[in-house]
Amino acid sequence: MNLNTKRWPYMKHNNSIIKLLISILLIGFAFRLFFYRSKEFATDVVAVTAFVNETEVPKNQTFGSIPIVEPPVSVAVPGPEDHLEDYDDEKCDLFIGDWIPNPSGPIYTNASCPLIEGHQNCMRNGRPDSGYLYWRWNPRACELPQFDAQRFLDLMRNKTWALIGDSISRNHVQSLLCMLSTVEQAVEVYHDEEYKSKRWLFPLYNFTVSVIWSPFLVEAAIFEDNNGVSTSEVELYLDKLDKKWTDIYQGIDYLIISTGKWFLKSAVYHENDTVIGCHYCPKRNLTELGFDFAYSKALRSVMNFIATSHHNGLIFFRTSTPDHFENGEWHNGGTCQGTTPVKEGEIKLKDLNQILRDIELVEFKKAASKAAENGVSLKLLDYTKLLLLRPDGHPGPYREFHPFAKDKNATVQNDCLHWCLPGPMDSWNDVIMEMVINWLNKSQS
Ligand SMILES: *[C@@H]1O[C@H](CO)[C@@H](O)[C@H](O)[C@H]1NC(C)=O
Ligand SMILES: *[C@@H]1O[C@H](CO)[C@@H](O)[C@H](O)[C@H]1NC(C)=O
Ligand SMILES: *[C@@H]1O[C@H](CO)[C@@H](O)[C@H](O)[C@H]1NC(C)=O
Ligand SMILES: *[C@@H]1O[C@H](CO)[C@@H](O)[C@H](O)[C@H]1NC(C)=O
Ligand SMILES: *[C@@H]1O[C@H](CO)[C@@H](O)[C@H](O)[C@H]1NC(C)=O
Ligand SMILES: *[C@@H]1O[C@H](CO)[C@@H](O)[C@H](O)[C@H]1NC(C)=O
Ligand SMILES: *[C@@H]1O[C@H](CO)[C@@H](O)[C@H](O)[C@H]1NC(C)=O
Ligand SMILES: *[C@@H]1O[C@H](CO)[C@@H](O)[C@H](O)[C@H]1NC(C)=O
Ligand SMILES: *[C@@H]1O[C@H](CO)[C@@H](O)[C@H](O)[C@H]1NC(C)=O
Repeated sequence: MNLNTKRWPYMKHNNSIIKLLISILLIGFAFRLFFYRSKEFATDVVAVTAFVNETEVPKNQTFGSIPIVEPPVSVAVPGPEDHLEDYDDEKCDLFIGDWIPNPSGPIYTNASCPLIEGHQNCMRNGRPDSGYLYWRWNPRACELPQFDAQRFLDLMRNKTWALIGDSISRNHVQSLLCMLSTVEQAVEVYHDEEYKSKRWLFPLYNFTVSVIWSPFLVEAAIFEDNNGVSTSEVELYLDKLDKKWTDIYQGIDYLIISTGKWFLKSAVYHENDTVIGCHYCPKRNLTELGFDFAYSKALRSVMNFIATSHHNGLIFFRTSTPDHFENGEWHNGGTCQGTTPVKEGEIKLKDLNQILRDIELVEFKKAASKAAENGVSLKLLDYTKLLLLRPDGHPGPYREFHPFAKDKNATVQNDCLHWCLPGPMDSWNDVIMEMVINWLNKSQS
């Protein structure tokens, strides 16, 4: 099924009048982000908001607002298959399965792990229900052992990991560190000025884990202050990779690379040091190329670099994750009130998430065969659908400490994009451990 062409078949004709009409009529999206400095982490929240009338966006928001237009679809994205068995040499597809009850619950808590960022610390913040903690991911075709922190650390002696991407990668690194902290506490050994990139060491194992802030993976000039208020469009260099990760790339044994929602922002696109167009820049006299164009291009640059890199470790490309805002979005009261997982088929991936994922699968698939020819181990972590079934896993209003303590009816901004810790993300590490073990087995034999 090709969502894009189904929904916007007329876009293919490149008719400028229709294009203009559609850019006026299409539901717009406001994309906001905010972060603040903290000792734990710089926290940023990416907000994708839908609203019909862009002028209705309050101009004085604390968090700033960048309106963007839903994709004028400039490239026809071929409908990829739902999963990529051809390039998946695992014993079974670990990403097709169900969430099943897990009476033993998470292996860490807010009390045992000091590394949970405040906005994701749902337990500490007073989330009243706890049912969301008692589930684990169960692939249909095979047995998935639960994450074994001791075994993982033993395997990772003298090794290095890096998780590269946006705030979802930062969410994930905390999950991994917390699970490992059941054996040994990680020691923070580095952070950048804004606490966005960090590195930890597990001293007994000489095992290093980094998180690297590179929300676009390609070079970007972002004009935002600390409140996320933007003074200009992002300048994106689609053919230049962000040195923040490429400089360290060869020295890291295991990488998890991802990106996604930041590409929805209004941006000016550069290629060959030339401005080639933009996405939602009404004040600039530039061709609207659509974020999907930029996303494909940027991912192609990333994938090409990886596939030809002669890296001899294990590289994961992770698909972007779905949000579950309902009855609104970030800025206008969107919530996520689920308390249990849903079943496959009961929930549909939102159009925007689907578009991002389709592009990811297309670009990954192209890169995977090239990587294999070059002896590069590149694997897909396709968590999109697995997380789609967990509308219960977000902080919702509990991104703040006891949000209803003073006023039961308080209006609180909900986070239906990031994930509670402990929470569904912990299952990611079950899958990763299984894939690492399989890969090590294979590379040793
Ligand atoms: C959009 O909202 C503004 C302010 O509320 C209003 O003046 C304008 O008529 C609206 N436009 C449309 C197309 O609804
Ligand atoms: C924005 O406007 C509203 C209503 O006019 C006001 O209550 C609020 O304090 C303003 N926020 C900022 C950050 O100026
Ligand atoms: C952990 O959360 C519980 C509530 O679930 C709370 O009572 C406790 O104080 C929290 N502990 C820490 C260290 O945050
Ligand atoms: C880790 O590195 C140290 C020092 O280079 C070495 O002595 C040790 O054998 C290594 N351990 C493993 C498991 O590679
Ligand atoms: C720690 O691991 C690194 C490789 O990641 C290795 O170069 C170094 O020698 C190790 N140090 C010790 C003390 O084992
Ligand atoms: C950039 O350069 C490459 C190779 O030199 C060329 O194929 C491509 O068309 C150029 N792109 C633009 C937008 O000029
Ligand atoms: C916009 O760009 C086009 C093509 O580069 C040019 O013909 C036109 O005059 C420009 N319009 C404005 C208002 O600058
Ligand atoms: C909160 O809302 C409930 C029902 O909507 C209402 O009965 C109650 O008076 C409200 N409480 C406050 C403090 O506003
Ligand atoms: C890895 O290989 C060992 C020995 O060949 C085998 O016992 C084990 O089951 C394998 N593990 C996995 C996860 O395939």
